[in-house]
Amino acid sequence: MSELATKLDHVQTRFEEAVAAATDERALDAVRVAFLGRSGEVTTVRRGIGALPPAERPDAGKVINAAVERMESALADATARIENRAFEAELAQSVDVTFPAIAPTTGSIHPVRRVLQDAVAYFERHGFATVLGMEIEPDYYTFDALNIPATHPAREGFDSFFISDTLLLRPHTSPMQIRTMQSHEPPIAVVAPGKCYRRDAVDARHLFQFHQIEGLLVAEGIHFGHLKGMLTGLCRELFGADQRVRFRPSFFPFTEPSAEVDTTCPKCKGRTSACNMCGGSGWIELGGAGMVHPNVLREVGYDTEIYTGWAFGFGIERLALTRYDIDDIRRFVECDPDFLTQLA
Ligand code: DAH
Repeated sequence: MSELATKLDHVQTRFEEAVAAATDERALDAVRVAFLGRSGEVTTVRRGIGALPPAERPDAGKVINAAVERMESALADATARIENRAFEAELAQSVDVTFPAIAPTTGSIHPVRRVLQDAVAYFERHGFATVLGMEIEPDYYTFDALNIPATHPAREGFDSFFISDTLLLRPHTSPMQIRTMQSHEPPIAVVAPGKCYRRDAVDARHLFQFHQIEGLLVAEGIHFGHLKGMLTGLCRELFGADQRVRFRPSFFPFTEPSAEVDTTCPKCKGRTSACNMCGGSGWIELGGAGMVHPNVLREVGYDTEIYTGWAFGFGIERLALTRYDIDDIRRFVECDPDFLTQLA
């Protein structure tokens, strides 16, 4: 028995050395086979039991079994240790804790909204109130009250989305002129920014949903010069201190006289003939304006002998295209954060 115990001790010592030397799971497996396998060292020791006197055999068996149990639990510990080391090595490779963190993405104000805010702020500084209208309007406010009777060809210019015989998505912000004047006595000074809708095919210059800003000033003694002054100031606010404006005779049923308003091209300042923003003309068209037509003032019950007024309506996308030198209006509705934050 003592001879067997000594042998077992030797085996145990070599086993411990072998386990300590094993650095991966394959090496550990080899240790398991060499010591605990069918022709392993422990099995060889166990065979020695047969040479012992019968009385000693049970104890010898117990000692060997106990040794096998210890060895197996040592192997399990070593396996866990090796797996853990492998996992940590992998982690160290895939996670570089010194790498700079990814900055959180923050939102930015949409360029169309920014231009709208700047335009509104300019008018508010000059004593104008901001009014917001409805996006669904009866045709009365959209056309009739604005001196566009049912048979007038100007209606066709507003390719509208009708949602019933008389209700439509507003194709311009001008209905707010009527709503404001109906509910207030002059003097009136308002701007009405907001969404408008037209049945236009989408291309680089058109969206079926866009924004306008409407302006209306009605009081005693208001004349075209006031309009010129306010719109020149607006262009300087939006595009730069040396902007000029130009008025070209035009026609709108709700104004008389009517004008198309242009501002000097902020890109070439009217100097080059190869400018891709203004096409070489030196001017950018902003929208319509004019002196409020007496028929419109009469419609809301204002005394046209006392009151006169001006109005204008500009497309906000158009202003933003000009301000940020963008060549395609569709970029405003494609949700490309790189594009949007660049302009913020
Ligand atoms: N409502 C017109 C449009 O959408 C723009 C406009 C022109 C508005 C002249 C006005 C104005 O207030 O006086 O085409």
